[in-house]
Amino acid sequence: MQVHELPRRPNPNLDHIPGDYGLPVIGRTFGLLYNSHKVGRHMLDTYGPVFRTSALFQRSVGLVGPDAARFVLLDGAQHFAAEPAWNRIIGGLFEGGLLLKDFSEHRSHRRALQQAFKRPVLEAYCSSLNHYLTAGLNTWPKDVCFDLFPQLKGLLLENAIQSFFGEDPDCDTQALSRAFIAMLDATLTLVRKPIPGGKWRRGMAGREVIKAYLKSQIQLRKANPGHDFLSSLCTAADEEGQLSDDEIIDHMIFLLFAAHDTTTSTLSSATRILCEHPQWQTRLRGEFGAVQGEQLSMDDFAALPELDGFFKEVLRMHPPVPGITRRTIEELEYGGYTLPANTSVFVSIRLMHYLSEHWTNPETFDPERFSAERAEHKRDSFQWLPFGGGAHKCLGLHFAEMQTKIFLFQLLRQFSVTLDPGHTPQIRAVPMEMPKNGLRIALTSV
Ligand code: HEM
Repeated sequence: MQVHELPRRPNPNLDHIPGDYGLPVIGRTFGLLYNSHKVGRHMLDTYGPVFRTSALFQRSVGLVGPDAARFVLLDGAQHFAAEPAWNRIIGGLFEGGLLLKDFSEHRSHRRALQQAFKRPVLEAYCSSLNHYLTAGLNTWPKDVCFDLFPQLKGLLLENAIQSFFGEDPDCDTQALSRAFIAMLDATLTLVRKPIPGGKWRRGMAGREVIKAYLKSQIQLRKANPGHDFLSSLCTAADEEGQLSDDEIIDHMIFLLFAAHDTTTSTLSSATRILCEHPQWQTRLRGEFGAVQGEQLSMDDFAALPELDGFFKEVLRMHPPVPGITRRTIEELEYGGYTLPANTSVFVSIRLMHYLSEHWTNPETFDPERFSAERAEHKRDSFQWLPFGGGAHKCLGLHFAEMQTKIFLFQLLRQFSVTLDPGHTPQIRAVPMEMPKNGLRIALTSV
């Protein structure tokens, strides 16, 4: 069967695989939405690393562990497709995005996009990131408790619009931010119809606003390229002669999506953890003493192993993308079970990051597990997978690393951070790990 022949809703019979479908019709949807880690752990402990379940009106097979991740993500024989799996979640709104392409088409588009993520381009971003993040930090309240989460989300979105789309003094960043937020809201609605006043319709209207803006910028960037993703894509498209203007627009909108919630989630988790483990504020600040000047550059990273361990441990315990989904194109065997054609499978990254056979005391926050001496993540190259692996491995991973490290550097260089004593942070795990009741903190000068 070809990818384009797969029916949109996969519900093959999976009864031969251990597991359960939960409640009639809704299956385990509520467990997935409100307690996904606990439910996943229960399924793994009860049924083993290959189990069937049902949520969001479709049956699927959960696969846990590095071998399963390697099997699905490396996929040398091209048994698994990303488009029909992700389309149910982000299709329509993020049409034409890289994750919604498979095999040879995906390879050629990915090659063009890679131009935007080469080291010289990232280095150019470094100094603007230092600048934006410091400017943002300076506008936040000092010595009083405030909710960091909306501030951070707004700052990262404005920063992404400016650094992805490029310098444009006439750009109405607020209007583009509102349009993009409408798109994000629409991904969470179950009613994907353009009902007047409905979220889907507002999201699709938001897409049109961003499309129109990008359309107006493409010729300008081609004539006069700057240091931004849009310019890099325009240049790459011309050199390789392969991306049309509409394709560039689709890729840019998807990049904004792929970058925004993931980095907001990472920086929120990192800040909360700094409050919970204040000794790490002291350790990181101490390490930053070796950095010359007031900006962190990519060349500094190698000399900051504690920062690296901290970053990796935040992503181990709180991976923003909790799992990766695919669909089988044809029937195949895994772990002694037959997976029928058109089965939805998901590889749980979060469960894998807590497996005690791969991590020492996985429930404990311990950045030193990533030190050169212990290097727990190297026990298996597929056991630490916040950025996925294989053909669709995150294209923005170095950007995300750079942004997180610069944020931590600029934050701790100037401030110590504490939780509001009256605030108990709660976390929403799905679709992406985020604060559920905000993140109330106070910043105090050091
Ligand atoms: C900590 C932050 C981030 C995390 C945890 C993350 C995670 C991921 C994961 C798990 C995937 C693979 C999905 C799959 O295989 O189904 C992915 C793909 C992708 N990410 Fe990220 N991401 C992050 C930040 C970013 C940023 C900042 C950008 C862009 C600037 C970006 C661009 C992409 C793109 C384009 C893809 C699709 C790659 C392809 O299909 O070939 N990501 N990301």
